[in-house]
Amino acid sequence: MKNILVTGALGQIGSELVVELRKKYGRNSVVASDLKTPDPEVMKEGPYEIVDVTSRTSIENVVDKHKIDTIFHLAAILSAKGEQNPQLAFNVNIIGMYNVLEVGRDRKIQKIIVPSSIAAFGPDTPKDNTPNETILRPSTMYGVSKVAGELLGNYYFTKYGLDVRGVRFPGIISWKTPPGGGTTDYAVAIFYDAIKYGKYECFVREDTVLPMMYMPDAIKVLMDLAEADIKNLKHHCDYNVAAMSFSAKELAAEIQKIIPELKVTYKPDFRQKIADSWPRSLDDSAARNEWGWKPEYDIKKMTEEMIRELKKKLK
Ligand code: NAD
Ligand code: SER
Repeated sequence: MKNILVTGALGQIGSELVVELRKKYGRNSVVASDLKTPDPEVMKEGPYEIVDVTSRTSIENVVDKHKIDTIFHLAAILSAKGEQNPQLAFNVNIIGMYNVLEVGRDRKIQKIIVPSSIAAFGPDTPKDNTPNETILRPSTMYGVSKVAGELLGNYYFTKYGLDVRGVRFPGIISWKTPPGGGTTDYAVAIFYDAIKYGKYECFVREDTVLPMMYMPDAIKVLMDLAEADIKNLKHHCDYNVAAMSFSAKELAAEIQKIIPELKVTYKPDFRQKIADSWPRSLDDSAARNEWGWKPEYDIKKMTEEMIRELKKKLK
């Protein structure tokens, strides 16, 4: 992992992953990339390139220019945005993944790390302690694209020996960069509105339970999986990873321990159906056994840190 490319680097996860990768591997070893020119502050932090993953040439040019040997492929359209524009989600998530794999095969990239999602599961999947190996029949284009990505990654590993690795992330909660249009975004938005207005209108029902993870754990997942000894990996692109599961009401109650004046109302919209199609909790024993995954944050620790950091940010 000498020269690393991160696609979708301006997004919720990429903006924090790039910082941690640069701390570990060196500022100039990590090339951040996304569709647009970022703020001057981001440009100053290290190498940055415009890369559109729907164009194979766009990826190839940057891979050649920077002699890239590792790709963290994060560019994607998330679930809610994907249901509003399934054609865009297909193009970015499936064609983009195919392009990254093809460049990987052609340019002999050593490692590709790519997140899948709990969206790979669907209404027929067992909802509690969902096994790693189970029914993958999603009901969203985002989910379809994530299953396709897992299968393509596994195929390129078997067929071409390309080292592709991935995890099924739950909803990611963070304070630095807002989420980019997912169904689990309420679990971030509630913190902003609690601090700014003391009230929040939640777009899923109060009894909606979903698996979630705090960003430092998500970064650890990606960096640890990238470094894991391939000899120990029996899976490749489809590891369940879990940290905490809670209902929207339980999250509100945890925040109210610190911000008692918070009032939450519930007005479910189209995202409720997406949330209802996903598991409530995951069995992540494969990740724990094969590469030592273990979360550090539970709902209490995450909530305390989110409120502390967001209060500073929103001052
Ligand atoms: P995000 O929406 O915050 O960021 C995605 C980035 O991709 C954006 O900056 C966007 O500009 C960029 N992008 C879109 N189209 C592109 C294109 N054609 N070429 C290049 N870049 C493009 O997403 P995120 O939350 O950072 O997610 C990163 C990865 O993690 C995705 O694969 C996502 O499916 C997965 N994931 C995220 C979550 C979560 O809760 N955040 C949960 C499960 C899985
Ligand atoms: N957080 C993501 C979403 O809601 C899950 O992949 O789309």
